[in-house]
Amino acid sequence: MKGKEWKTHHPGGSNRVIVTKMLPGNRWLKLLVDADCRVDVCLSSEALDIAEIETAIGDRCDGVIGQLTEAWGEILFTALKAAGGKVYSNYAVGFNNVDLPAATRCGIPVGNTPGVLTETTAEMAVALTFAAARRLGEAERFLREGRFKGWLPTLFVGELLRGKTLGVIGAGRIGSAYARMMVEGHKMNLVYFNRRENRALEAYVTAYAGFLDARGEVPVSCRRADSVEELLQTADCVSIHTVLDDTTRHLINSKRLSLMKENAILINTSRGPVIDEAALVFHCQSHPDFRAGLDVFEDEPLLKPGLSSLENVVIVPHIASATMWTRQGMATLAASNVAGIIRGYGVWNKPDIKFFLADTPPKAAPSILNAKELGMRIWDE
Ligand code: DGY
Repeated sequence: MKGKEWKTHHPGGSNRVIVTKMLPGNRWLKLLVDADCRVDVCLSSEALDIAEIETAIGDRCDGVIGQLTEAWGEILFTALKAAGGKVYSNYAVGFNNVDLPAATRCGIPVGNTPGVLTETTAEMAVALTFAAARRLGEAERFLREGRFKGWLPTLFVGELLRGKTLGVIGAGRIGSAYARMMVEGHKMNLVYFNRRENRALEAYVTAYAGFLDARGEVPVSCRRADSVEELLQTADCVSIHTVLDDTTRHLINSKRLSLMKENAILINTSRGPVIDEAALVFHCQSHPDFRAGLDVFEDEPLLKPGLSSLENVVIVPHIASATMWTRQGMATLAASNVAGIIRGYGVWNKPDIKFFLADTPPKAAPSILNAKELGMRIWDE
């Protein structure tokens, strides 16, 4: 293959899998090699474009592990199908880069990597929350620039979160984990917005409130908001954990930002386009006490003009899932999706996916998003 540098493992394998970025650890590679796959790995850190991936697929390719930076749509799924492709797995839990209906039309199962990003991503949301609330970015820059001349009562005064109201938009796995960390760790009251009631989360917070009450401490509360607007008006700190789709694109726009408290905190570790980033830049410029912590960006890797010079915004380069345990776990799940389908296994249908990290994993493909649409066989013991 011309252009970017590739490395081939197990060249004699009877199946061919392409992996569009080098992945951490080596278990993923063993899983593929054990399934008798020749594995072609792209070593470049630059994102591959559609034409480059099409070239890499060539006229024979059984499976692909691809990245959230690649547009997997009609063109690539058609090419993969024509090359004998049986499966595609995203190396991510999010799959807004994948046109799932197109994959289904081509008969290609699409995998993702849920369950191993939950705590890691929630911890990053917590880190961004405190970095924004306590102005860590600004304070560190100030210190590194040699501007610290001694302790002052007014130096980098931020926001105390204990006892305040936390707003969580999207109370799925990651949103719930973040909510539990903030409620339990910092005694915040929770208001969440989610399509469905999250009874498990409510029960958890209620039990914790009972525990605090029994100790003579002020209990925490939990309720589901009727609307995003209501949540934004109520919360001191709002964290976004939704998927990106047509219903959530620019969910946070200038009108909704204007509903938030002057000194509110907005955290996003989901997908950039959920926030109208230009509107956020304008809002932060005109509301100096408002703070934001962002892991993801609307035009990633680019930032909207003005964002990087805002002192009241903390920004990190889409690293919320970046712990070695999680990134290796994602690699294991993506490889298990691909190897599992190539081996003809059924599809796992239980919520706990961490069995796939064990020494003897189930003989199943852990997470196939369009299994039902494709009428795929469900794993049975
Ligand atoms: C995902 O898996 O969707 C994450 O954004 C990767 O960090």
